[in-house]
Amino acid sequence: MNKKIKKILQKKNKSKIVSLTAYSKNIAKILDNHCDFILVGDSMANVLYGQKNTHSLSLTNIIQHAKSVKLGVNKSILVVDMPKGTYNTPREAVINAKLIIKNTECEAVKIESNKKNFKIIKNLVNKNISVMGHIGYTPQYKKRFRIEGQTNKEIHNLLKESLLIEKAGAFSIVLECLSPKAAKIITKKLKIPTIGIGSSSYCDGQILVTDDILGLSGFYPKFIKKYANLNRIIEKAVKKYSRDVKLNKFPSKKNFLNGTKNR
Ligand code: KIV
Repeated sequence: MNKKIKKILQKKNKSKIVSLTAYSKNIAKILDNHCDFILVGDSMANVLYGQKNTHSLSLTNIIQHAKSVKLGVNKSILVVDMPKGTYNTPREAVINAKLIIKNTECEAVKIESNKKNFKIIKNLVNKNISVMGHIGYTPQYKKRFRIEGQTNKEIHNLLKESLLIEKAGAFSIVLECLSPKAAKIITKKLKIPTIGIGSSSYCDGQILVTDDILGLSGFYPKFIKKYANLNRIIEKAVKKYSRDVKLNKFPSKKNFLNGTKNR
C-alpha cells in the first residue's frame, strides 16, 4: 500500500483527516499544505460545468482536470472520482481506473456505492488500485437529496453497506449527508476512516467542496461553512479593472513593455 495512504489509515482515532475538492492547479497548490487528501470530485459537473447532475461528466473531463490538479499537488494524496458509467463491470472499472492513474498519477480513485458494487471495489483492490468508497447521498445513483440514517433500520442498512465496502478493501469511505447517529455508529464500527460531508463531527475526517467554502458557488446549505466571500472580492477587483481601463488608467507607464525584460 502507498505510504501516504498508510498514514491516513493511522489517523483513525488519533487525529482528524482534512480534505477538500480541487478542479485546477492553482487551487490545488493552495490546498496542498493543509489537506491530507485532495479530491478531484465529479461535483465539477455542477460547480464548473453548470449541469443539473453529475451524470454526463466524462472520463476525459475528469482526467483533464486531475492532470491540472496534479501539477499543484506535492504532499497530499490525490483522489480522483470515477464518473458515472465508467465502472459498471469489474473489467471496465479496472481499465478506466488504470487510465485515470496512468494519466494523472493519482494515488486512489473514489467510487459511489449503489449498494451492489462491492465486487467492483474488491476487483480494483486486487489489482493494487486504492479505492475510497462513498455512501449516503450518492448523486450518481440518487435522484433526490435526502438525509439518510434517520431510522434504526436505515442505520442498520447503512452500517451493513459500509462494512461490505470495508471488507471489499476500500481504504476509507465518504459518508455524505447521514444523520449524526448513523455517522457515529458507522465511524465506531469501521476500522477504516470515515470522511464526512454533511454528516456531523463524529466522522474521522471532513471534506467539502472548495468553491462552496470560498463563497464562489452560490450553494450554501446548512452543512457548509462559508470561510470567505471570494465572489465579492473578485467582483470588487474586476470592477476596479474595468474602471481603470475605461479611464485609461490601466495599463500605466509601469506596465509598458520596453527592451527585453518582462518582469
Ligand atoms: O464530487 C465530489 O466533490 C464529492 C464530494 C462532495 C465528496 O464526491
